[in-house]
Amino acid sequence: MPVNILAIESSCDDTSAAVIADGKVLSNVIAGQAVHEQYGGVVPELASRAHQENIVPVVDLALKKANMQLADLSAVAFTQSPGLIGSLLVGSCFAKSMALALDVPLIGVHHMQAHVLANFIDDPQPQFPCLCLTVSGGHTQIVLCESPLKMTVIGETMDDAAGEAFDKSAKLLGLPYPGGPLVDKHARDGNPDRFRFPEPQIPGLNFSFSGLKTAILYFLQENRAKQADFVEANIADICASIQLRIVTILMNKLVKASKETGISEICIAGGVSANSGLRKALETYGAQHNWNVYIPKFEYCTDNAAMIAMTAHYKYLAGEFSPLDTVPTARAAF
Ligand code: KG4
Ligand code: ZN
Repeated sequence: MPVNILAIESSCDDTSAAVIADGKVLSNVIAGQAVHEQYGGVVPELASRAHQENIVPVVDLALKKANMQLADLSAVAFTQSPGLIGSLLVGSCFAKSMALALDVPLIGVHHMQAHVLANFIDDPQPQFPCLCLTVSGGHTQIVLCESPLKMTVIGETMDDAAGEAFDKSAKLLGLPYPGGPLVDKHARDGNPDRFRFPEPQIPGLNFSFSGLKTAILYFLQENRAKQADFVEANIADICASIQLRIVTILMNKLVKASKETGISEICIAGGVSANSGLRKALETYGAQHNWNVYIPKFEYCTDNAAMIAMTAHYKYLAGEFSPLDTVPTARAAF
């Protein structure tokens, strides 16, 4: 009997559903929420409402694309934490109802563990032990993975996440939310060595990005006072310089983590791993340090249900199921 799992992701502002059969992803449907753009960030209440509107058509389409009948499902999985509680509740209630109606096991999944396991959806896959740099809008972590379900966070941000650093810098430049991809786009035509932003000296494997945001704020104030159209005239060089600094901060800690653990199987995950500068840096540093590097396909980098499905597959094989009275939580360690 094949193991067919329907997985639902609704932790932030993307409603996603995926179907996985014996570890092979058959569909991954993602509905974004344009409603937040005008507010410059995700509005939690609007996100919950949009999830409610999207979830039935998204699940329907995921099942259809996978050519899967409800009766063929072996389990239903959902993102349990971390995330916006209202958003998580929509996905968890839906998944619980479905598991109850179909009389199949329910599997709660940790979103950050799932981001890491996005690296195991396609071949080639990292060998264990491996290190994963997970960089998203809410998290920045270096994770030591001994097996699919045995992971330890060995470094993390003490303030802003890398994605937040991108988004907040973009906001200071007058770019719309989420600004990360736009900084990336402008950076392609810019000189990354034109402006130098400070690198914080944080001990160990932890990160800090809040100082960078302040440095950029003062830098822009100073230069705008001298030249009103400073940002417009230099947008490519400013974005390239900001991107280089964020990427360098990330890569220096990853090099340190690899040296300290002796691990050279290196992967990245999370929305920021879509960044072209980070992808290129991973290849360059990888060649320098003899790493085997892994980067998930673009659609598995940002929030998606395929990574929840992949994690659920491993949990199913390990018999790790959740009771029907389990609750989602906004924050949780893994
Ligand atoms: O993992 P994700 O989709 O959602 C969270 O769980 O946070 O990550 C979203 C983050 C946002 O901060 C977004 O600006 C950033 O990933 N991001 C990028 C790029 N694409 C997405 N940042 C820089 N360059 C990109 N190309
Ligand atoms: Zn995420």
